[in-house]
Amino acid sequence: MTSLVARDGHVVWHPYTQAGFGVEPLPVVSARGSTLTLEDGREILDGISSWWCCLHGHAHPALVRAGTEQFKKLDHVIFAGVTHEPAILLAERLCAVVPHGFERVFYSDNGSTAVEVAIKMAVQRARHRGERRIRFLALEGGYHGDTFGAMAVGARSIFSAPFDEMLFSVEFLSLEGTERDMERVESACRGGEVAAFIFEPLVQGAGGMRMYDAVVLDRYCEVVRRYGGLCIADEVMTGFGRTGELFASGEMRIAPDIICLSKGITSGTLPLAVTMCRNELFDEFISDDHSRTFFHGHTYTANPIACAVALASLELTTADECRAARERIGSSHRSFVDELMGLKGVGSPRAQGTIVACDILTEEPGGYQNRAAQRARDFFIERGVLLRPLGNVLYLMPPYCFSEVELKQTYDAMIDFASAVR
Ligand SMILES: Cc1ncc(COP(=O)(O)O)c(C=O)c1O
Repeated sequence: MTSLVARDGHVVWHPYTQAGFGVEPLPVVSARGSTLTLEDGREILDGISSWWCCLHGHAHPALVRAGTEQFKKLDHVIFAGVTHEPAILLAERLCAVVPHGFERVFYSDNGSTAVEVAIKMAVQRARHRGERRIRFLALEGGYHGDTFGAMAVGARSIFSAPFDEMLFSVEFLSLEGTERDMERVESACRGGEVAAFIFEPLVQGAGGMRMYDAVVLDRYCEVVRRYGGLCIADEVMTGFGRTGELFASGEMRIAPDIICLSKGITSGTLPLAVTMCRNELFDEFISDDHSRTFFHGHTYTANPIACAVALASLELTTADECRAARERIGSSHRSFVDELMGLKGVGSPRAQGTIVACDILTEEPGGYQNRAAQRARDFFIERGVLLRPLGNVLYLMPPYCFSEVELKQTYDAMIDFASAVR
């Protein structure tokens, strides 16, 4: 019988993968809780929550039940001109739990589309006001997705290089909020052309798990708001408890105008995303003039099964048990950071909620092309964990069901990797 890997090699094109490097994909046949089972029967821990989205572990019974029940009742229906209870219920629940009082939910189906929607809302809102706002502010080293708008507001990198000339221009600000940054925000906003400032609050994910204080966001947002621009919190990665609290933007003093959520929304089971705002913004699109319509939508917008699973996941996420699990992981991570401090070969150990990261100090340059990342995969699989460093940044972002034993197994492997890599 031909292996999955051999068959895959003939017909599949994988994301972020240079087929020329000949690195074989891992053939996964099933998953339960923290564990992925491979074709050859090996079991490995999902240390990256399957790209940061699996919150409650794989095949959680409550989520399977919610999805199955909904499947039998209403699988999918167009969402333009149609509505259904799972979408309404989820919108009601999200408005109740997301900090800073959001009132409207626009559905889409992945993190990049949630960001595209936010960008388009900001630009079109200005147009309705008779303003020409087509400039954006963002943070250096940020990542917001791979579609064109989302790519434009993200850091320029090897990912974006072939398209850089086609991306609209963005003013990138540092995480430090220096005097020079403040001057740049002021001067960019003064012309009245800035539509919005977008940021990943507290932790920049793909940019290397860079952690920072929310105070700088308040300072930038204050200026942007003063000149009539909007503030967009991209919580695609940080949302639903990743950074400890339910949402990282809860740490901000200034309320963002728009928030983007995806990934953890269905606990990694089905594609779904939301872009949320307040009625103040929504009302600016209400008119008897069709040209003021927000002409954006996707086929699977507000898929009922995804919404039903998201509701069940939100119930789990807001329960005391989940908070306790996040606190337990957060506290283990902090002890692990202490352990990493001063270890040779390890730089900037850091933790925020359920995320722990450090830099692997090698002679090679950092970033995505650092070969530490390529060596890491086999090393960690050998040790029973799936980890996928971002260049020389090694991190662990487990599902909230990761046990103490599973954490210890992963920490030990990370320490051994850091010691072995030089
Ligand atoms: C902060 C942030 N925004 C947006 C995205 C894009 O999400 P998706 O991969 O679902 O398009 C990501 C994905 O990693 C992300 O981390």
